[in-house]
Amino acid sequence: MADPVLEIEGLTKYYGPKQHPTVVALRNVSFSLEAGEILALVGESGSGKSTIAKILNGIEMTTRGFVRLEGKPIETVSRQAVQLVFQDPYSALNPLNSVEYVISRPLINFSKLSGNALTIAIENLMEQVKLTPPELFLPKLPHELSGGQRQRVLIARALACRPQVIVADEPVSMLDVSIRAEILGLLNELRELTSVRAIVYITHDMASARMIADRVVVLYRGKIVESGMIDTVFEHPAHPYTQLLLRVIPRVDAAWPELSDEKPAWTTSPSDHGCPFIARCPVALPICQSQDPDLVEIGHGTQQVACHAQR
Ligand SMILES: Nc1ncnc2c1ncn2[C@@H]1O[C@H](COP(=O)(O)OP(=O)(O)OP(=O)(O)O)[C@@H](O)[C@H]1O
Ligand SMILES: [Mg+2]
Repeated sequence: MADPVLEIEGLTKYYGPKQHPTVVALRNVSFSLEAGEILALVGESGSGKSTIAKILNGIEMTTRGFVRLEGKPIETVSRQAVQLVFQDPYSALNPLNSVEYVISRPLINFSKLSGNALTIAIENLMEQVKLTPPELFLPKLPHELSGGQRQRVLIARALACRPQVIVADEPVSMLDVSIRAEILGLLNELRELTSVRAIVYITHDMASARMIADRVVVLYRGKIVESGMIDTVFEHPAHPYTQLLLRVIPRVDAAWPELSDEKPAWTTSPSDHGCPFIARCPVALPICQSQDPDLVEIGHGTQQVACHAQR
């Protein structure tokens, strides 16, 4: 079988002073993405989603574990291969740079394009992200664009690096509800039209994950508590935390759910043991106090859950 596009195994990330790290942002996180897949990473604030994005992009180093891209250790692959698209499209753009400048930089610097080839590449990118006609948008500055248009510019900039993987970290959570679906639709199309072979979509909410993802990984305090095909997890959520996430999906016209009671990160303190969800769990068993449950397969192998009560 072909290598997965992206393979993450045993990722563990500590933050804090080198000798005495205190925060355990990720604990033994493993998942992989096959060609053409969109995987949603779902979890509340502080669950470690952006830490995974940063490790994939090379901004942060992992403490333990490894990442492979097309079978090669990520450290040996060009940084361009994994591109991040961020939550806030305004702060990610320099207010003084035109759309043309933003999109042409990577084409000039990395693909060494110039002249006619550069013009054609810019126009292609503008069409891929549906900022057309290009001549209308290319001279514009960020403040002359809507939030959705700015996010399209950032997606075009990411695509200009010809990435194999796009990691979109809450790409629509700051956008108007009416344009979220459009931007998610655009990300979805990238798999067919571009160099992009797989997408990691990071979000707080399950509803948007279902709109776009093939599979979902649910994180809680740095640990995978459930993963599986998105439809299976929606129809048969096995972990009480996933069940909670699904219960708070609002009506289409309401604000998207954000669980406000963020739990602190897992720490290296001896008091952190047992199941990380125990304080909120409606079905906790005595064993959950002392033993952190492993992620095990349930159903027919398309779903995994880390919960003593679901065995
Ligand atoms: N540079 C850092 N130094 C120390 N702790 C950090 C650092 N970056 C993140 N953390 C901690 O690691 C944990 C995971 O953070 P991360 O940013 O990955 O969460 P997240 O799931 O992306 O949250 P959000 O939904 O709010 O963006 C949090 O408890 C956070 O406080
Ligand atoms: Mg984040």
